[in-house]
Amino acid sequence: MKNIVVFASGSGSNFQAVIEAAESGEIECTITGLITNNESAGAIEKAEEAGIPFRIMKPSEYRNPDEYAEALSSQLDKWQPDLIVLAGYLAKIPAPIIRRYPEKIINIHPSLLPKYGGKGYYGERVHKAVMEAGETQSGCTVHFVNEVYDDGPIIAQKKVDVYPGDTPKTLAGRILKEEHKLLPSVIQKILNQQ
Ligand code: GRF
Repeated sequence: MKNIVVFASGSGSNFQAVIEAAESGEIECTITGLITNNESAGAIEKAEEAGIPFRIMKPSEYRNPDEYAEALSSQLDKWQPDLIVLAGYLAKIPAPIIRRYPEKIINIHPSLLPKYGGKGYYGERVHKAVMEAGETQSGCTVHFVNEVYDDGPIIAQKKVDVYPGDTPKTLAGRILKEEHKLLPSVIQKILNQQ
């Protein structure tokens, strides 16, 4: 059985989709832990309900970036991930962790990267920018994580139409539904190839 570790900062609906896929057997894996930088993340409750260990690790609680990276690294040593999944994680993954897990860290982003990605493009800001630009399509992307936000090689995308009456919120909701299918399917594909 492969192990995955999830990082999440927000409501954790993608995390929940991964939990359900693991429980149903769609993904053959054990979720060995959740790391969050936000003590009020909804993801924590989801971990508790599913009996998944979690740790709250805030970069600001460490004396410097190296200490934070070392703490993350020793936590990951305990959880032994074959794959690390960033599911709405809003802190930067330190470079030593990225180098330690080459092609083993993936992220989900709510746009068709390389469009509307990078620093500052998170949450509703992404969908607002898509709508302001008059795009007729948007979607979601799963990609490998490198040292630049939203920049690593693209693994899979799903397109979603933008409708004339959309608001950033309605568009976000339509894309989120697709994220919940795309993320588990990509995880299973990568674990199969390992
Ligand atoms: C998702 O839209 C994801 O693409 C982005 O952050 C959001 C997280 O939502 N990276 P949730 O916490 O999984 O509900």
